Amino acid sequence: MLTLAGPEPTADAAPAVAVRCSGIVKEFGAGETRVRVLHGIDLDIETGAMTYIVGPSGCGKTTLISVIAGILSAEAGEVEVFGQRLGVLSGGRLARFRAETIGFIFQQFNLLPALTAAENASVPLLVNGASESRASRRARDLLAAVGLEQHLDKFPAELSGGQQQRVAIARALVHEPRLVISDEPTASLDAHAGQGVMALLREHALSKDRAVIVVTHDNRIFHFADRIVRMSDGRIMGSELPPFTEAH
Ligand SMILES: Nc1ncnc2c1ncn2[C@@H]1O[C@H](COP(=O)(O)OP(=O)(O)OP(=O)(O)O)[C@@H](O)[C@H]1O
Ligand SMILES: [Mg+2]
Repeated sequence: MLTLAGPEPTADAAPAVAVRCSGIVKEFGAGETRVRVLHGIDLDIETGAMTYIVGPSGCGKTTLISVIAGILSAEAGEVEVFGQRLGVLSGGRLARFRAETIGFIFQQFNLLPALTAAENASVPLLVNGASESRASRRARDLLAAVGLEQHLDKFPAELSGGQQQRVAIARALVHEPRLVISDEPTASLDAHAGQGVMALLREHALSKDRAVIVVTHDNRIFHFADRIVRMSDGRIMGSELPPFTEAH
């Protein structure tokens, strides 16, 4: 069992804030080519909700969610996920916290090429100690829920981009993580499949002790959002409630 640093959450009071970003600064490169990509981001993400992050290509969306997930570390500022400050966790403890708490859907899917769809989708459960039979059963159920029941035993190279994307979505949900972070989850999907996976993500978000963050340009799915945060040039410009009809 992972012991978390910081205050113990009380049993019956689910925190209203799932993610708190305070003053996040992120830079890439060295010397004269060093660039600041996030300019001091302050952002709270609520529980029980699906929060979208939108903004022009290159404005820092993937960088921000990578810092929130502990995949990238920031030059300055602090991220708290369900009250846990990521900065105080050492490598192994951070990896375990992430494995238990966060499901991340990468923009480029990041499936393991030597594993089948069902095996890929069961990895987070196996990492968290589930039996192979339970992991496999749950992975297959979720893959069926995203319309891949005919493709369970195929390898990523045998799947289309949209099919791979749905495997990545099943993998992110399989261990019922408290925080799901999804980078352009519908980029490779047609309208029907896109609505299906967003409905699944929304259902996941509705629980009071969970949250879902979605980065997207896809205005076909804006109506699923509870809140839309706009980014531009490494800064948060504001947030609003849907419906949100402007094209991005
Ligand atoms: N590893 C890296 N090294 C150097 N620069 C990087 C790196 N990753 C991202 N950047 C730069 O940081 C900026 C923000 O990139 P990021 O991937 O966060 O944008 P984005 O908003 O997700 O864009 P898109 O909508 O195209 O996915 C870009 O200018 C990009 O070139
Ligand atoms: Mg991106």
